[in-house]
Amino acid sequence: MKAKVFITKPIPLEVENYIAKFCEYEIWRNEKPISEELLLEKARSVAGLMGAHIKVTEDLLEQAPQLKIISNIAVGYENFDIDLMRKRKILGTHTPFVLDDTVADLVFGILLAAGRKIAYLDRYTKAGNWNKIDDNKFLGVDIHNKTIGIVGMGRIGEKIAKRAALGFDMKILYTDREVKSEVDKKFNATFCEFEQLLSRSDFVVTMTPLTRETYLMFGEKEFKLMKNSAIFINCSRGKIVNEKELIFALQNNEIAGAGLDVYTQEPIDKNNPLLSMDNVVTTPHIGSASAATRFEMAMKAAKNLVAGVNDNKPENLVWELKDLV
Ligand code: DGY
Repeated sequence: MKAKVFITKPIPLEVENYIAKFCEYEIWRNEKPISEELLLEKARSVAGLMGAHIKVTEDLLEQAPQLKIISNIAVGYENFDIDLMRKRKILGTHTPFVLDDTVADLVFGILLAAGRKIAYLDRYTKAGNWNKIDDNKFLGVDIHNKTIGIVGMGRIGEKIAKRAALGFDMKILYTDREVKSEVDKKFNATFCEFEQLLSRSDFVVTMTPLTRETYLMFGEKEFKLMKNSAIFINCSRGKIVNEKELIFALQNNEIAGAGLDVYTQEPIDKNNPLLSMDNVVTTPHIGSASAATRFEMAMKAAKNLVAGVNDNKPENLVWELKDLV
């Protein structure tokens, strides 16, 4: 008998066909995300759940006695409650590697857009304003030869460093739990203290997962330490930033601008002041959103799911749960 699984968002047909070979499945195809109540109901009879950000709660696990695995279609997994999952021996998987370059591309896109005012000037041009002598409005900052500070030199951090060094001749500072000698060698990067990175960088790019340690790691103190000309880029998780204090820093010219793909609340409230600031570039959490990468992520998640429900070891178990199999 095939194991039953529930998938909380539409996936490519090829991925669906792969799952169909091994599982009895249902997919939430609605445009609106599934409600918590309905998810609890769906979870009741399944061995596997797959989705982008399924919030793991006591309630969910309580209601899903047959559940063996939750397969994230995402690399981040702050939606997992690791202690709960360990206690109940529920596997948790994610989709590392396949999105590294795609996210790094977006970071650079946003960095360029913020530094050279591309998003602002796009709106300006389309509004038909390009008939005045407005040269000063056009002036951004150079990217090449500047200093980029990368907070978190993991796989994606390294891809950002590669683009910064080889594409833009940037000087690279970074923080991490440890020195990454390979990255130092390849891209002439320099490991430094967090405070030093903040005060020396022209572009501060954060690429850390959301954990207890990184929650609200950027706030008033950190923005004050940055140069007034600094541009802050966040394409990792919104909750690592105290958003109110970021807004204050931007409104008071403590920093010059920001490029944001992630927010404290997603989708962002349409009245959030960040949305009306010309020096802030915003995108709707699209770090991994290229068609090819989203396909790879969905396929990886599907393979993890199928392995988990069939009592095989999934390839991408999160490290905290590796010893469960
Ligand atoms: C990820 O994979 O974690 C991306 O941020 C999409 O959620």
